Amino acid sequence: MSLGLEGKIAIVTGGGRGIGWATAERLAAEGARVVISDLDAIAAAEAVASIHSAGGSAQAVPGDVTAVDFPDQLMSATQASFGGLDILINNAGYTWDGTIHRMADEQWQAMLEVHLTAPFRLVRAAAPLMREAAKREIAEQGRARPRKIVNVSSTSGTRGNSGQANYAAAKAGVIGLTKALAREWGPFNIQVNAAAFGLIDTRLTTPKEYGERLRWGDREIALGIPEAMRSQAIRLIPMGRPGTPQEAAGVIVFLASALADYVSGQVLEVTGGL
Ligand SMILES: NC(=O)c1ccc[n+]([C@@H]2O[C@H](COP(=O)([O-])OP(=O)(O)OC[C@H]3O[C@@H](n4cnc5c(N)ncnc54)[C@H](O)[C@@H]3O)[C@@H](O)[C@H]2O)c1
Repeated sequence: MSLGLEGKIAIVTGGGRGIGWATAERLAAEGARVVISDLDAIAAAEAVASIHSAGGSAQAVPGDVTAVDFPDQLMSATQASFGGLDILINNAGYTWDGTIHRMADEQWQAMLEVHLTAPFRLVRAAAPLMREAAKREIAEQGRARPRKIVNVSSTSGTRGNSGQANYAAAKAGVIGLTKALAREWGPFNIQVNAAAFGLIDTRLTTPKEYGERLRWGDREIALGIPEAMRSQAIRLIPMGRPGTPQEAAGVIVFLASALADYVSGQVLEVTGGL
């Protein structure tokens, strides 16, 4: 069976690098038209250029998913470029770790904003393009074509993780959003699922010693995890290694594809066997 992605219109937030980029690349390779949104305008533009050079269709819409007006801008740009929306991948995010007794309110709030409030606002902004469009199809043809929302969660959200109370709470929250939305939008043939990743090799999981940073406005946040913690995490993985961004993307693309047309409200853990 084909993945059924030919000609579909997809938004991937945080599509400039890592798991989001691998997802955008694979969706485009399967024939989807992809809107790549990222805080990092250069990464988004490079991702689009790479898809174009492979013969695919893509468009960059840079911006901060936590900005209140950005979700509406992203939906308008998608409508203007491609004329609709079939697939929304809520992937953008970062980590800002710390133990609870030392965690600042700002650090707590930032994780809720990017991993939970932004997906909620993006889904709400997508309602005219997804829910209303499906409603019209049902009125005119008796049924709506399948549409997909995939939210990126984490095993920190499904199982907890020391030093990530803010991130874990937000990633657990997005599972609640996924399950509620699956019930609300199921009647419109919109499948809503979450992929909860364990350790995937991206700059969020590189050893902190490499000094990767997320910068925007006057903010600068150190990314990565301490080398000792990374080695310990790898020892616990039955497959003995982190996943690649492409392996993570494969699961998102599956959930966005026709292969998952009767899968909704689910959380798929992707952990290498943990
Ligand atoms: N890497 C892992 O092991 C892992 C595990 C579980 C879940 N995740 C989740 O996967 C998603 C992707 O992470 P990744 O590992 O590919 O990281 P990454 O840093 O490689 O990519 C994330 C992208 O999101 C963008 N981004 C960050 N904040 C943004 C914002 N406010 N607005 C728009 N774009 C923003 C970044 O610029 C970056 O390009 C995140 O939600 C992350 O929490 C990652």
